[in-house]
Amino acid sequence: MNRIPVTAVLIVLVVLGNMVFRHAPSDVAPTVQAAEPTYVGRGVCLECHSENYQLHRHHGHATTFRSTKDPEVASKFVGKSYDAGEPFGTYTYHADDQGLFVRIPDKFGEQPFRLEYALGHRSMTLLSLLPDPDEGTVALEHRVSWMAAANELGKTPGQHDGTPNTAAELFGNRHAGRIMHKCVYCHVTTGQIVDQQIVDLTPNVNCEKCHGPASEHVRLARAMKTPPPFSVGRADWDAESELQLCGDCHRMPRDISRKQLREYPDLLARFQPVGLLRSECFVQSGGRLKCTTCHNPHQTIFETTPLEHEQNCLACHAEMSETNPSAAAHVVCPVSPTTGCIECHMPALKLDGLGGGFHDHWIRVRDDK
Ligand code: HEC
Ligand code: HEC
Ligand code: HEC
Ligand code: HEC
Ligand code: HEC
Ligand code: HEC
Ligand code: HEC
Repeated sequence: MNRIPVTAVLIVLVVLGNMVFRHAPSDVAPTVQAAEPTYVGRGVCLECHSENYQLHRHHGHATTFRSTKDPEVASKFVGKSYDAGEPFGTYTYHADDQGLFVRIPDKFGEQPFRLEYALGHRSMTLLSLLPDPDEGTVALEHRVSWMAAANELGKTPGQHDGTPNTAAELFGNRHAGRIMHKCVYCHVTTGQIVDQQIVDLTPNVNCEKCHGPASEHVRLARAMKTPPPFSVGRADWDAESELQLCGDCHRMPRDISRKQLREYPDLLARFQPVGLLRSECFVQSGGRLKCTTCHNPHQTIFETTPLEHEQNCLACHAEMSETNPSAAAHVVCPVSPTTGCIECHMPALKLDGLGGGFHDHWIRVRDDK
């Protein structure tokens, strides 16, 4: 297996300049003209879309970016220590009402280093914004993350092991410029880094990150029974726009180097759109197969059963029956026609340092099955 740390891959990708983002963080203008829709916040959606609101609360999208002032976040670190070895030393953690702090007693005594934001929930990586003489602001990605699967602290994937250039880098990797902005962009709904603050911060991947600012939709929905099409209901909202939406963060082939696209190392399982786009299921179904064929975008995969997943496959790959008249248009599995589809054709691959595994979305007959 090819063991390239994912953050390193990210850096290479960004350096290659392949990343194209539909809404760069700078598009979220702090001053918006009167006619333009503005962000209203997910709380407003609850009034009329309570089902999607309740589902979304349990999705990973609802906890992609939290303050370490959140006691649940801090509790994963407080009172623990982690020996990062030389030249880094042993980290110890404590919290107060300003958030979470780390110390390296051997090197800096009682002097605390502030850890401000926590990204992710299956693994939680800490991020701080610091002043920098060259860049203005840099982000520091802490060397230690909390790993949910083992409920313990572990080394953040992609951390360098060389001698740090600055004292701050004893605490983790330093990111500047585009990489720093993208890191925040993919994990929040709105927000821009200005000096060491994030202004207009709406954390997490909320309703309006996917559906766009909704003030006009809400105004019209309050004024009439059937508001005009919005977001997914618009004429220009098709399978392609949906793939672009999910792929904006989950990565598209344009974000991957040509060499990797050619060789398809296991780590590409982390980037589901890249795999899906090369699957015969996608290529030969005339643009009908999209992420939401198999995923309710509001419901976490942890609340989706294996049986439900197989039903998604069988909607296309089953003997024709009265309940499924269109299925026979596609081939049926000669090995196991009704069960076990995912483990043979989309197995979860263990990726270095990323607990849990990622299901390879290049759906295919595999040599090892
Ligand atoms: C703004 C960036 C962004 C967009 C857009 C986005 N995602 Fe995600 N997604 C994330 C991040 C970040 C995580 C990791 C969250 C975590 O698990 O802590 C994630 C996690 C997930 C998960 C696993 C977590 C769970 O609870 O199920 C699924 C499934 C998923 N996304 C599907 C989708 C689909 C489908 C779309 C398009 C409809 C989409 N995402 C659009 C950023 C995004
Ligand atoms: C191009 C968009 C993008 C960028 C840039 C990005 N992320 Fe993510 N991140 C995602 C998506 C999508 C996921 C969910 C799938 C996965 O785990 O790969 C994720 C997952 C994670 C997770 C694991 C969450 C979990 O619960 O499994 C952590 C931690 C994380 N990102 C931290 C970071 C940090 C730190 C940076 C910046 C140095 C960063 N990300 C940059 C999109 C992005
Ligand atoms: C990760 C992106 C994403 C997030 C976050 C998201 N949605 Fe959606 N939503 C979609 C997509 C994609 C569709 C279209 C689904 C389809 O075509 O089957 C959709 C469909 C809808 C619909 C119409 C169909 C239905 O399910 O009733 C409503 C209403 C809706 N979303 C509301 C919300 C609300 C409210 C939130 C926040 C609580 C939210 N969405 C969060 C991507 C998202
Ligand atoms: C005052 C009630 C109300 C509020 C508040 C509201 N909506 Fe809606 N929304 C509706 C109605 C009514 C429809 C059309 C019928 C339906 O699909 O439920 C709709 C439809 C939608 C659709 C599907 C659009 C389409 O054309 O198919 C999406 C997506 C959506 N809303 C997202 C949101 C989001 C995101 C929020 C919060 C920011 C929100 N809505 C707040 C009433 C509301
Ligand atoms: C929208 C319909 C659709 C869905 C849903 C779908 N497929 Fe397919 N799949 C196709 C089409 C079309 C082909 C090309 C062959 C054919 O026409 O049956 C195909 C081909 C395949 C192949 C052969 C691939 C190859 O490289 O020869 C496998 C294996 C497969 N699908 C498994 C699955 C599994 C497992 C699922 C569920 C996770 C699934 N499919 C979901 C439409 C679909
Ligand atoms: C043919 C069905 C199918 C399609 C289409 C599909 N997925 Fe998945 N996806 C799955 C299955 C099955 C799982 C594993 C679910 C589980 O563990 O319960 C999964 C898991 C995931 C996860 C969790 C991490 C992982 O890899 O296990 C993410 C994120 C995700 N899908 C994103 C996407 C995105 C983005 C798209 C569109 C580009 C997409 N999926 C299209 C079937 C599908
Ligand atoms: C034990 C592993 C296993 C399970 C479980 C399994 N498959 Fe397969 N599948 C295979 C193998 C191996 C082949 C290749 C068979 C061959 O070429 O003779 C295959 C072939 C296929 C093909 C291509 C058939 C063709 O004629 O090109 C499709 C489509 C498919 N499977 C779908 C599914 C679906 C849908 C499910 C779940 C209902 C499923 N498979 C369950 C191992 C499995």
